[in-house]
Amino acid sequence: MTAATAPGSAPGPARPIAAGGLPILEMVGVRAGYGPIEVLHGVDLAVPQGSLVALLGPNGGGKTTTLRVCSGLLRVNSGELRVAGRTVNGISAHELARLGICTVPEGRGIFPNLTVRENLWLATGTGVSREQVESMSFDRFPRLGERRNQLAGTMSGGEQQMLAIARALSTQPVVLILDELSMGLAPLVVTALYEAVAELAQSGISVLVAEQFAQTVLPIAQSAAIMLHGRVVRVGAPAEIEEELASAYLGG
Ligand SMILES: Nc1ncnc2c1ncn2[C@@H]1O[C@H](COP(=O)(O)OP(=O)(O)O)[C@@H](O)[C@H]1O
Ligand SMILES: [Mg+2]
Repeated sequence: MTAATAPGSAPGPARPIAAGGLPILEMVGVRAGYGPIEVLHGVDLAVPQGSLVALLGPNGGGKTTTLRVCSGLLRVNSGELRVAGRTVNGISAHELARLGICTVPEGRGIFPNLTVRENLWLATGTGVSREQVESMSFDRFPRLGERRNQLAGTMSGGEQQMLAIARALSTQPVVLILDELSMGLAPLVVTALYEAVAELAQSGISVLVAEQFAQTVLPIAQSAAIMLHGRVVRVGAPAEIEEELASAYLGG
């Protein structure tokens, strides 16, 4: 793995850079599960540096479990998890976060009884100041600035998701992992959030996003994977995958 810290970035550990076309994040034949129950039966998935990959498929297929492996919350039983070509099996979630692999979990992981600003301040562990975190977040999402002193739990679902993304970005991630951004949100809100995510990908952040509802994320993805019964059964360009999804959902 080649490691480097971008000029002007926050002090902290060296961030991985994938050289020679290696994926920034990769799973090779990964088996994992909960206790004795195996849920992932040999998952292959690659996130090329700077690209946005959509992980699609019906409920229960193993998308969240896959993301939990990618963020170090769930152990790899066999196969390999790689960051920029280096095998990192057994790495802790904390270490992965220090490498710049940052996850917005299903349910967003924000603290409802803290204000917007207080939630953002939780991201200052990586060396950025409270002022920097606030200005980065409020520049990107002016709505959060307007609501900076509001308790997070009293905001709309879309605003809470914005907050979760803003907080993740404050850690200056190399890879941003998003789980079911659309959960419980109105379609227009989801579209606006994905526009923001597309901008992040254009700015060079690699993104892996799991979605049960493909229509919202396919237009901004560079590639997509269909996950069924704990396996990635198909990877391709968004247009090709869109055609195949109907049959996947119907169990074909
Ligand atoms: N904490 C858990 N303990 C045991 N089984 C789980 C747990 N979480 C998920 N599963 C099982 O793993 C399978 C895949 O679930 P999940 O990864 O959440 O899929 P998806 O995100 O695609 O809906 C399901 O059969 C689910 O019941
Ligand atoms: Mg899920």
